[in-house]
Amino acid sequence: MPVADVLVVGSGIAGLLAAIKIGEHFPSRKICVITKNEAAESNTQYAQGGISVVTDFLNDSFDSHIKDTLIAGDGLCDEEVVRFVVAQAYDRLEELIAYGVKFDRDSEGRLSLAKEGGHHRNRIVHCKDATGASVSSVLLQKLATLPNVTLLTNQIVIDLITRQPTAWHSRAGTSCHGVTLLDCASSKVSNIFSRTTILATGGLGQVYETTTNPLVATGDGIAMAWRAGAEVSNMEFIQFHPTALTSFGSNPCFLISEAVRGHGAHLINQLGERFMFKYHPDGELACRDVVARAIAMEMNVSGDSEVYLDCAHIAHHLPDKFPTIYQKCVSLGLDLYLEPIPVAPAAHYVCGGVDVDMEGRTTIENLYACGECANTGLHGANRLASNSLLEAMVFAHSCYQDIARRLDNIPLRIESLEVKTSQPLQAAERTLVLQTRASLRKLMTEQVGIIRSEKGLQLTKTCLAELSKLISKLATGIVDFDLQELRNIIDVAQLIVDQSLKRQQNCGAYFNIDHEVHSHFPLERVVQD
Ligand code: SIN
Repeated sequence: MPVADVLVVGSGIAGLLAAIKIGEHFPSRKICVITKNEAAESNTQYAQGGISVVTDFLNDSFDSHIKDTLIAGDGLCDEEVVRFVVAQAYDRLEELIAYGVKFDRDSEGRLSLAKEGGHHRNRIVHCKDATGASVSSVLLQKLATLPNVTLLTNQIVIDLITRQPTAWHSRAGTSCHGVTLLDCASSKVSNIFSRTTILATGGLGQVYETTTNPLVATGDGIAMAWRAGAEVSNMEFIQFHPTALTSFGSNPCFLISEAVRGHGAHLINQLGERFMFKYHPDGELACRDVVARAIAMEMNVSGDSEVYLDCAHIAHHLPDKFPTIYQKCVSLGLDLYLEPIPVAPAAHYVCGGVDVDMEGRTTIENLYACGECANTGLHGANRLASNSLLEAMVFAHSCYQDIARRLDNIPLRIESLEVKTSQPLQAAERTLVLQTRASLRKLMTEQVGIIRSEKGLQLTKTCLAELSKLISKLATGIVDFDLQELRNIIDVAQLIVDQSLKRQQNCGAYFNIDHEVHSHFPLERVVQD
């Protein structure tokens, strides 16, 4: 029977850091990392901008980073968590540097600091415009040196193995003892039992038709935790990145990092007008929700499907500062000295997720969560740019510390559970699954996107309920990769819609045309002095 002391689901920055730290701390314990695709395929791999950390103590301060995070979160951040994260950012950064991540530095060897929307200081450490890819590759190399850590690729987790409290022990809650998973190559279903499980499954951008997230981002961890009874919150706060290359039809959409605006690029409309100052005094560097909504409004008024990012005045910097973005634009035939980049918002990040405390514990015993799938309280209603990798680093560390304290006292419970056999989907059924996924993503983009309405949310709720019934029926006796992803997409879409319907006031990334305008709406946000 396969067993692990610690099971980590997901191989982005959060999962890798947790596995490395626990693996190093317990050299004789078995750690297993499960990932759905190749090890490097995660949201982390696609993160361009960087990590926000106060490193320049002459020009920046913890208070300034805290204030920027709270303002971006529009009143819904947990201030204690914000302080906790900001205060340990530097220590976590030093660990990445010690593992071998080479952040950009100036000619005097100081970390080079970029600026992004909502930050009132330069504080984003980065590796050109491919920070996530650099971090991911260093951490994967580090993981491979640990003999007690096994990495299982191309495995999709179907569900958590949980135990309900028994009547005679009713004060205990539900607990987690492992996972059931499907091997995508052999179609074999199996159970892995573990003392403790960490969900680090990342985001859910693939719930939407246009997204910057890779195909693997289908909300799996959030969906399975919710099915097991974990508390899940703030799902209505879906962050749309303002500047994705949506018009070239790729999935995921290529991202034009916010750091390009931080470097001076301007947003203009079809008429060539720089429009952001109409909406906010911080212009292109207002918080991400404000910029995305302003672009959506410009597009609604003009009927155009994009606005433009004018980089002509900084084009000579792009090959060196943003080589990946520059090469992508060249490959699409764009001459950035002469023409602006067509951009539009795309689903980018879920600010909510599985509720965790400061130790990374979910409401299910022995189940932890960190990274994008967790709702830590840091982001509130809208995440500050480049706080995501930071949050993942800090909460992976919290999970590690708590597990290091507790692991010896957590029993391994192995049960003989019936293992479902996996039947292949018939061709017609697979077509139905794939068509359903495509139409659901379109519906979510149209009705549950940047600008929502009560009618649109109710309509989507009804459709999702029907789809859920259909898919449950189809899933009887079948365990299949496409079906499982669709099941997860439907579950997280339902969470987004249900939690949107419960929110009675516009706030941060949540905007419903039928609600009272927020105190600082339509688009204004307190401007920091
Ligand atoms: C970007 O590079 O614009 C994305 C950074 C982030 O998601 O925080």
